[in-house]
Amino acid sequence: MRKPNDFLEDILAEIEKGLKDDINADALADDFSMSSIHLQRLFKQTFRKPIGAYIRSRKLSSSIMDLLHSGLSVLDIALEYGFSYEQTYIISFRREFGFTPGDLRRNRQLVRTTPPLLPFGQESVYKNHFLVGNIIKEKYMDGVYFDMIKNNFNIVTPENSLKPVSLTSNRGGAYNWAYADQMVNQALENGIAVHGHVLVWHDWTPVWMTKGTKTEAEDNLKNYITDVLTHYHGRIYSWDVANEAIRDGLSAADAAGGWKKCLRTNVPWYRALGENYIETAFLTAREADPDITLYYNDYGLEDPRKAQAVWDMIYDINNRYGRTTGQERNLIEGLGMQAHYQINGFNENRVRSSLKKFSALNIELSISELDVTAAGYEEGEGKDIVMSENDAALQAMIYKRLFSFYRENAAYISRVSMWGIDDHNSWISAGTPCLFDRYLNPKQAFNAVFNTEK
Ligand code: G3I
Repeated sequence: MRKPNDFLEDILAEIEKGLKDDINADALADDFSMSSIHLQRLFKQTFRKPIGAYIRSRKLSSSIMDLLHSGLSVLDIALEYGFSYEQTYIISFRREFGFTPGDLRRNRQLVRTTPPLLPFGQESVYKNHFLVGNIIKEKYMDGVYFDMIKNNFNIVTPENSLKPVSLTSNRGGAYNWAYADQMVNQALENGIAVHGHVLVWHDWTPVWMTKGTKTEAEDNLKNYITDVLTHYHGRIYSWDVANEAIRDGLSAADAAGGWKKCLRTNVPWYRALGENYIETAFLTAREADPDITLYYNDYGLEDPRKAQAVWDMIYDINNRYGRTTGQERNLIEGLGMQAHYQINGFNENRVRSSLKKFSALNIELSISELDVTAAGYEEGEGKDIVMSENDAALQAMIYKRLFSFYRENAAYISRVSMWGIDDHNSWISAGTPCLFDRYLNPKQAFNAVFNTEK
């Protein structure tokens, strides 16, 4: 028997498909063989808003892209979205956003839209398979963005606020907890778990930490890890202890020389402490808080040589930990596979083989920073463009294949976290890599993922 929530998910999907038709509660109730009153009551109980108002808000939000990027007249758009008269559309639009469609066309201001409910949320097709996450950052902490986080994700990773430079920028161990604490606490108060990112990295780390004698640098590393894990004890679920330690573009000779020969050497922690800094970091983290799951996190693991080096490193460190402590528990208990893909050159076979390879390590695997960039590699927020039809279709296909692959392999995957909700606020916005556009309208990619067969 189907659960009521499965059925509501179908209703939400039907609403998305029908935004340009004359969709309404009565027609939906008919399609699902139930009374309209019953559907309206159930919808309101579950989502705390009337179904009619929700459909109207979704139509208006969705029409924004046509207003901004099509040559259609306001009347044509009104009719396309099932409003009987242009005036009805204009009045509803002004009531919803505070200005008219004409104002938006002239001023092109950003609008607080109504995103679709529950794409990945508590009842979603993915929820039973793995944790589904996204990032949090200042922009996402209130209004419609935080509603999306609350409705759709059960774990979040602070994008930048738990990086060493954000927590401590001054020499002498003064910490700036306030901002990160506020974020972490807000997530927890809303029932969302937090994954910590990141303790040891070559980027975003204050210079003083890795300076001085070897002993001073090692003390800094250990003190920092201990202080942060002690501070967040009981609040943060799992941590990226080390990030991006293996370099790119490894030659066959590098790879044959063992993982230590594949480390990035021209980076502060390596220069200060040599090849053991990763193991030291993990040992310190375990001692500081044995309750949390310790992750190594990296990108480009589709490259078989880089994957081999990471595999060997984790195996070697875990093996030594087992031998020296006699413990069955691994020291590195999780691998975060970042998954910053590009539509050009995306190689599904390599993604598949990489996951298969790591599954033999017997540790948690998480997709930790998923996004699929369409064009260009220009970092920074606010540079999103309208995608070409081709790019949008290719991106949608890649997302769809990835999510069905994740579901097939759910036995190995603990968490799938996306690195951004919407294109405008993505770290690589020019590549429009997210599932939602700047107005929080679902993109073709979102529909491809969400409409996956159950
Ligand atoms: O906050 C300033 C803003 O005031 C200023 O106007 C603007 C000018 O460019 O810069 C803003 O800071 C930027 C910050 O992101 C917030 O947007 C920094 O320049 C920029 O370097 C920083 O980039 C972050 C990057 O890590 C470096 O820490 C990205 O947000 C973040 O998404 C990215 O995340 C990394 C993961 O930690 C590790 N894996 C790769 C991933 C993507 O690069």
